[in-house]
Amino acid sequence: MTNIIFSSIRNSLNNAVKNPGHPFRYFTLATISNDGSPRMRTVVLRSIDDQLNLFFYTDKRSKKVKHIEQQDSIGLLFMDLEKNIQISMQASALVIYDEKVLNAIWQQIPEKSRKDYTSHLPPGTKITDPENVNYIEGQHFFTAIKLVPQRIEYLQLKKNNHIRVIFNKENDEWSGHFLVP
Ligand SMILES: Cc1cc2nc3c(=O)[nH]c(=O)nc-3n(C[C@H](O)[C@H](O)[C@H](O)COP(=O)(O)O)c2cc1C
Repeated sequence: MTNIIFSSIRNSLNNAVKNPGHPFRYFTLATISNDGSPRMRTVVLRSIDDQLNLFFYTDKRSKKVKHIEQQDSIGLLFMDLEKNIQISMQASALVIYDEKVLNAIWQQIPEKSRKDYTSHLPPGTKITDPENVNYIEGQHFFTAIKLVPQRIEYLQLKKNNHIRVIFNKENDEWSGHFLVP
């Protein structure tokens, strides 16, 4: 029975990659900052592989990349308000440095979206005027991050019986157990 829920999670995440309107298209990514405090932000789910590893894109100078380089344990949170489903994951994050891989992804990124990874000053730098951000041509700071889930918690709130399931990965096999909601 938990297998069906696991498949539905996989299907929903795959659909979110293809469909920009899907509620799981955007998720909250939590990292641990250098002083040990949690930091959260929204990112876009870009792809998912057969092992359920998830990928998003970012600027390699961003704080989240610095956090991940120091501490690769991260949290992810997906929410579907229509179906009352919450999926939270514990994962390890890997910054992709392989230029060949990054270049292959970069070639697929539409021209207008590439700008996001080319600001002259690093993301998070204080500025006086948001209209006055300079972008570099012919250079970019694009990178992709791979998220490798270890633990997935699923919760669906329903009128009568809520459903809560924990999935753990051991030796590349996922096993699920129902929990008291
Ligand atoms: C709808 C939405 C989608 C976003 N998607 C991404 C994304 O895919 N990658 C990214 O690096 N930042 C994305 N951001 C910006 C981040 O939430 C964050 O503000 C920024 O990356 C700086 O984060 P950091 O300083 O913690 O690294 C998005 C923001 C919003 C509002």
